[in-house]
Amino acid sequence: MTLLKVEDLTIAFKSRQGVVKAVDHLSLELEQGSSLGIVGESGSGKSVTSLSIMGLLQNANADITGNIVLDGVDLLRLSQKDMRKIRGKSVSMIFQEPMTSLNPLHTCGKQIMEPILIHQKDVSKQDARNMAMEMLRLVGIPSPEQRFHEYPHQMSGGMRQRIMIAIALACHTKLLIADEPTTALDVTIQAQILDLMTSLKKKRNLSIIMITHDLGVVKEMCEKVVVMYTGQIVEKSPTELVFTDPLHPYTQGLLNAIPKISNKVDRLEAIEGTVPDALNMPSGCSFHPRCKYATEKCKLEAPPLFKQEDGREVRCFIYDVTKEVDDVHATK
Ligand SMILES: Nc1ncnc2c1ncn2[C@@H]1O[C@H](COP(=O)(O)OP(=O)(O)O)[C@@H](O)[C@H]1O
Ligand SMILES: [Mg+2]
Repeated sequence: MTLLKVEDLTIAFKSRQGVVKAVDHLSLELEQGSSLGIVGESGSGKSVTSLSIMGLLQNANADITGNIVLDGVDLLRLSQKDMRKIRGKSVSMIFQEPMTSLNPLHTCGKQIMEPILIHQKDVSKQDARNMAMEMLRLVGIPSPEQRFHEYPHQMSGGMRQRIMIAIALACHTKLLIADEPTTALDVTIQAQILDLMTSLKKKRNLSIIMITHDLGVVKEMCEKVVVMYTGQIVEKSPTELVFTDPLHPYTQGLLNAIPKISNKVDRLEAIEGTVPDALNMPSGCSFHPRCKYATEKCKLEAPPLFKQEDGREVRCFIYDVTKEVDDVHATK
C-alpha cells in the first residue's frame, strides 16, 4: 500500500536577492513499511522537502505547490490546526542534533508523555507514564526508571537520539522522517542508532525517509533511494543498483566520495567544483558545469527524468530513451 505520495512538489523562497527554488517538481512514493533514502550534498533541498511533509514550512516565506498525500490526506490543503493533529501522530521527524529539538527544562520521560497526552485524549497521565516507560525500553535505554527522570543534558548524544526516536514513535506514527539523524554521532553509536531504526521499522511496520549525505547510511537502511541535486531528483533507483550500477554522473561522483565521508568529512570532494549558487543557477542541466560528460545540449537544455526499462529514472541526456516522464517540466 502506498503511504506517501508526493507529486510535483515545488518550493520557492522569496527574498530581497531573488527567488530560490529549493525544491523543483519533486515526485516520489513510499510504500507502507518500506524505507527511502534521500541523498545529496548540502543545499540540495532535502531538509526543505521533509519540512514540507511535516507541514513546518507554512510560517517561512515559502511558496509551495504540488501535492503531498499521506494516507489519503493531502497535507498541503490542511489547516495549521489539522496539520497539528497529524504531526507526531501520522508523521514524525527526528533531526541531526537532538539538543535543538529536546526541551532542556523537561525530563526525558515528560517529553515522551507529551505527544501521547496530546494525541490520545482518553489516556490518563498514569497510562501515559507507563507508555513512555515502555518507549524507553523499546529504544534500548538502560535503566529506564532512572532515565525517565533525567534531563537531556544528562545524556550522551546517542541516548538523546534514542529519546528523540521514542518521542517520534510514541503515538505509533506510520512515517518517520529522519534528517541526518546520525551525522553528529561517532561511528559506533551511528551504527547502533541505524540498527535500532531498522529493528523498529520491522516491529512497527514503519515507513522511513532517511535523509543523508552519506550513501553508506542508505546502503544500511534503505530499499530505494532518490538522489537530489539543486532541488531536483536526478536519479531514482533501488538501493542495490545505485551501488553496482549508478547512472547519473552525479551519483557516480557521490559513490567515489564514500571513503572520504566515512572519515567524517562533510564534503564530497571527489566531485569537482561546487554546488551552484541557488540565486544564480546555470543554464541547461544544473549539473553541467561539474559534469565531465557535458555537451553543448546540456548547457542549453534542462533534461527531464528519463525512465529506464528497468524502472529507474535518471535526469541526464545520456539516458534519453524512448519514454520520458515529467517531460512537461523539461524546460524551466
Ligand atoms: N527558510 C528559508 N528561506 C530561504 N531559503 C531557504 C530556507 N530554507 C532553505 N533555504 C534554501 O533552500 C535550499 C535547500 O536547503 P535545504 O533543504 O536545507 O538543503 P539540504 O537539507 O539538502 O542541505 C538552500 O539553497 C537553502 O539556502
Ligand atoms: Mg539538511
